[in-house]
Order: sequence, then C-alpha cells, then structure tokens
Amino acid sequence: MNRLQGKVAIVTGAGAGIGRATAELFAEEGASVVIAEIDAEKGNEVAQGIMRSGGRALFVQTDVSDEAGVQQMVAHAVRAFGRIDILVNNAVVFVLRGIEATPEEWRRSFDVNVMGPALVAKHVVPEMRKVGGGAIVNLGSISSYIAQPQHATYNAAKAAVSAMTRCMALDLAKDNIRVNAACPGAVWTQIVESRCRDAGMDRAAAEADPSWGGAHILKRIADPREIAFAILFLASDEASFVTGSNMMVDGGYTAL
Ligand SMILES: NC(=O)c1ccc[n+]([C@@H]2O[C@H](COP(=O)([O-])OP(=O)(O)OC[C@H]3O[C@@H](n4cnc5c(N)ncnc54)[C@H](O)[C@@H]3O)[C@@H](O)[C@H]2O)c1
Repeated sequence: MNRLQGKVAIVTGAGAGIGRATAELFAEEGASVVIAEIDAEKGNEVAQGIMRSGGRALFVQTDVSDEAGVQQMVAHAVRAFGRIDILVNNAVVFVLRGIEATPEEWRRSFDVNVMGPALVAKHVVPEMRKVGGGAIVNLGSISSYIAQPQHATYNAAKAAVSAMTRCMALDLAKDNIRVNAACPGAVWTQIVESRCRDAGMDRAAAEADPSWGGAHILKRIADPREIAFAILFLASDEASFVTGSNMMVDGGYTAL
C-alpha cells in the first residue's frame, strides 16, 4: 500500500487487460489515475470502479495516435490533479499480419503502437519537467525480440517500442525522468482469449498448449495483475536506478 502515494499517473488503454489491472493497482497504491482510453464505455467503467473503491480516477476519452487529442488529455489531467509523475504507455491495436500486410495495416499498427506512445510522452514530459522528474513505462513484449508467424506488423512495432525506450531514457535522464519497458509473455487478455477460443481452447487447454502456456518456463499464461506489479515497480521510486531497461515479465519465455 501507498507505494505511489501522492503521485499522478496516466495509463493509456486502461479500459481493459493489462492497462486496467495497472490503473486499479496504481489506485490501490495511492496514485490518482488518468484513464486515457479510446473506448468510452470501458474507460468510464474502470474509472467508476476505482472511485467506488475509494480511489481517485479520471476517464478522458483519448486516441493516442491523435496529437491534438493527446494534448487535450494531458491538459485535462493537469487541471484535475495538478501534476503528472507517471506515464504508462499501454494502449495497443493488435494488427497481426505477415508479408501480405497492406500499407494501411502497417500504418495502423505503427500509428497507435509506436507513434502513440511517442506523442503521449512528448506532451507529458514538459509536465514532468515542471515537477522535477518522473517515470515512463512503455509496454514492450516478447514480440519485441522474437519471430512469430504472421506477426510482422505487430512485432516490428514492439521492437520499435523497445528501441524507443532506450533512446528516451538517454534523452530524458537530464530531466530526472526514467524510461523503461515491461515486456510480457502471453497474458490472459481479450486478444489471447479470443485467439485461443478460435483455436478451440479454453484457458486450461491454452495453458497446456505447447505454443501458448507451454512455451514459457513457468508453463502457464500470466494474469494481467502479474504484469501490473512489474509496471508498478518500474514506475515507483523503488526503481530509482533503473532506466533504459526492457524488463522481461515473460515466465521465462525468452530464457529458453
Ligand atoms: N496480452 C498479451 O499477451 C500481451 C503480451 C505482451 C505484450 N502485451 C502488451 O501489453 C499492452 C496491453 O495489452 P492487452 O492485451 O492488455 O490489450 P487489450 O486489448 O486488452 O487492451 C488494450 C486497450 O487499449 C485501448 N486502445 C486501443 N486503441 C487505442 C487508442 N488509439 N488510444 C487509446 N486506447 C486505445 C483498447 O480500447 C483497450 O481497452 C499492449 O501494449 C500489448 O502490446 C500484451
């Protein structure tokens, strides 16, 4: 409790999955949380849930790939909570395409998954400078590092996020802003659930499947909250000497 007491955090894509778990955990740890989410129904639901539990939250409908909207979201966050200490760049579109991907599919993947985090960071950093520093946590993936079938559009974007994390860490160290990425293996969120169900697998079958749970040393799929705890560490003052790192939170997937 209270690991983020007094801090203000923006979590993009916090209407579902890892982002939702992160927003809820951050609120439990004392942060005021801005839910920057494109889906109004989901974003509102998460913010209301946090407030019902006694936490502080604000939903701002946001498309991270729209710079004007991002600027408005940051201004709204500062008006509501006075400052910004933490940014979690979590929002994603899963465009999973191989060699036949169209220019539009490539643009969509890179607009949301690469340019999105870059734009949100661009407009959050001046606010972090005003308060003497901050922490940015990007969501990389095992997909930043490995090949997966029919995944070129997604894995190239995630590799870019990991590279961008290192570059931002270098550029922002002078401002006392740390920049890291959490890189999950398979997590039981809507994309994994729907792909497994399409393949005829429920969660138990997916955990045992050699290309899903079985591909991790721990032989299972993560819950979103397990990733949120790693993000919490990177965002908190406990990680004061950690910057430019891509922390694997992958049940040993990339150790094999
Ligand atoms: N689920 C996994 O197995 C897994 C594995 C490795 C990495 N990741 C990464 O973790 C992060 C979260 O993944 P998830 O599975 O929890 O996703 P999810 O699909 O459950 O949630 C993503 C959220 O982002 C929102 N969103 C989509 N486009 C947006 C936009 N333009 N602006 C703002 N919000 C937008 C969606 O509405 C949704 O609520 C992603 O960056 C993903 O690449 C996930």
